[in-house]
Amino acid sequence: MNPAPIGIFDSGLGGLTVARAIYERLPGESTIYFGDTARVPYGPKSPDTVRRYSLEILHWLVGQGVKLVVVACNTSTAHALAALREQSPVPVLGVIEPGARAAVAATQGGPIGVIGTAGTIASNAYPRAIHAISAALRVEQVACPLFVPLVEEGWFEYPATALVAEEYLRPLIAQRIDVLVLGCTHYPLLKPLLGHVMGDGVRLIDSADETARAVAATLTEQQLAAPPGGQVIHRFVVSDDAPRFQQVGARFIGERLSGVEVMALG
Ligand code: DGL
Repeated sequence: MNPAPIGIFDSGLGGLTVARAIYERLPGESTIYFGDTARVPYGPKSPDTVRRYSLEILHWLVGQGVKLVVVACNTSTAHALAALREQSPVPVLGVIEPGARAAVAATQGGPIGVIGTAGTIASNAYPRAIHAISAALRVEQVACPLFVPLVEEGWFEYPATALVAEEYLRPLIAQRIDVLVLGCTHYPLLKPLLGHVMGDGVRLIDSADETARAVAATLTEQQLAAPPGGQVIHRFVVSDDAPRFQQVGARFIGERLSGVEVMALG
């Protein structure tokens, strides 16, 4: 039994979709969420830069006494998971393996579609993770960089967002994919719109729930779960602009978001 908090980090506030899934599955666990709002977005940045930022955050979280780290950001997971695991004294879980597992479980034979930031798609991390489970599946990928600013703007159901989505997703519709992996923290907020554009025959996979399940399994396997009945605290720390994080973050997570701290890294 271990009452220490779980560390969760993202390039900004999108990772709150993963944090929410962890709160729901593990209501007895405390967490520290770090959003690198000073340096967001990670999507267009080079693998080396994303790795450097991610390692800085890891060391800060470990210094706060976390017992496990969840990399909620797909781009960080794609570029930095191996380096983070090498340097971390505590277990580190990313969002790509759980998302790939959920996609393989959901497909009727593919192809599987994957959408994400430019960095995540260029890294080929999703096709690698999917092929590690099932080598024969075809994977079709498209980078959708405009989705992140549209979500940050709160344009979840706007006609402009639908037009952008139709343009991005056209090649995946033409390939007749049966599963679409939402390979970016922000995309679950576009689920209704993306479902409408893709049509009924396509299952949308959001790695947040599957990641929370993986966190629960690791806590049990490594006997790290918090003792029952303890005090549960959720801390939120960002590298810049706490008021905006609080305001936009409420769309991701609701009223639980209060008392955001600011901590500059780098
Ligand atoms: N958190 C990033 C991801 O999941 C999206 C936002 C960004 O580009 O930093 O890939």
